Amino acid sequence: MADITSPSTGLVTVFGGTGFLGSTIVQRLVESGMRVRIAARHPRALDLAEARGQIALQRADVRDEDSVAEALKGATGVVNAVGLYVEQGQATFRAIHEEGAERVARRAGEAGIRRLIHISGIGVDPASASNYVRARAYGEQRVREVFPNATLLRPSVLFGPNDAFLNSLKTVTRLPIVPLFGRGSTRLQPVYVEDVARAVLQVLEMPDTNGRTFELGGARAYRYRDIIKRVLTHLGRRRLLLPVPFVVWRLLARIASLLPNTPLTLDQVILMETNNVVNAKANTFNDLGIEPCSLEQMLSACLDELSC
Ligand SMILES: NC(=O)c1ccc[n+]([C@@H]2O[C@H](COP(=O)([O-])OP(=O)(O)OC[C@H]3O[C@@H](n4cnc5c(N)ncnc54)[C@H](OP(=O)(O)O)[C@@H]3O)[C@@H](O)[C@H]2O)c1
Repeated sequence: MADITSPSTGLVTVFGGTGFLGSTIVQRLVESGMRVRIAARHPRALDLAEARGQIALQRADVRDEDSVAEALKGATGVVNAVGLYVEQGQATFRAIHEEGAERVARRAGEAGIRRLIHISGIGVDPASASNYVRARAYGEQRVREVFPNATLLRPSVLFGPNDAFLNSLKTVTRLPIVPLFGRGSTRLQPVYVEDVARAVLQVLEMPDTNGRTFELGGARAYRYRDIIKRVLTHLGRRRLLLPVPFVVWRLLARIASLLPNTPLTLDQVILMETNNVVNAKANTFNDLGIEPCSLEQMLSACLDELSC
């Protein structure tokens, strides 16, 4: 079998390779010389000058056995970067983050693929009140059961040009008064999307990462309100910060769930009630020889490129 540690021979299937993180991973793998197959329900070519025929597209839905098997044909490595934040019809957290995650892992094992990187998230908890967080936790367990050597990567909230995180903060700081989740004291450790993509490449190149779990946070943790303050300062805006109790946010989220394209979900609110930082005992970027950026370092580059 071809060895994906050798850039000229590997073919890595990236499920979710068109997403915010997935497309950055694809770019990083291509730059390192690997061949990449983008697998998604609506696969599309990325605008990569350096791709030189290294990218293949495959229509695949992680809910569908045959399309998953097809997407894995001939691959030597797999990355599952499929994302779902709002349930829609049959696309439930259980279907995508549990059953879909297991399907990719099981099929990868059956196909004799040796390397699987499953993207999860910091704070997975089978006892969480959030359906999303619980599904991520069960998804990890199911992946481990069928593919014990999988490497699990748990990023904190991602930032980068055109992200959802800084983009939404830029939008919310347009308001004359900026509402905070609770007192804004939840701690987050935002991680640069490029750093997580570098971690994926590094994992593929380090066989001793097999079977391990890594928590990936940026160089610094911040309270939510301190992130808002930094964004305001950067944008030259002065705003009043208004603490809003979580009970009010939960109520707002329930009302918002009646809207077709809800801007706020109960799962997002629950996520904001818990610190989202790297556990002191976890494997981290440090174990991969990567020094992650801090939000402050990249704020200018990211905010100035945002579209809103
Ligand atoms: N963004 C963050 O701040 C953050 C933080 C921590 C962890 N993560 C994790 O990182 C991963 C990627 O997140 P992201 O923000 O990059 O997501 P994203 O931008 O929403 O991208 C989601 C990707 O998944 C694909 N997808 C969705 N449903 C699918 C299905 N049924 N079958 C196959 N592909 C499907 C999408 O393409 P199609 O719609 O064309 O199928 C797209 O390529 C997720 O596991 C997420 O939980 C993200």
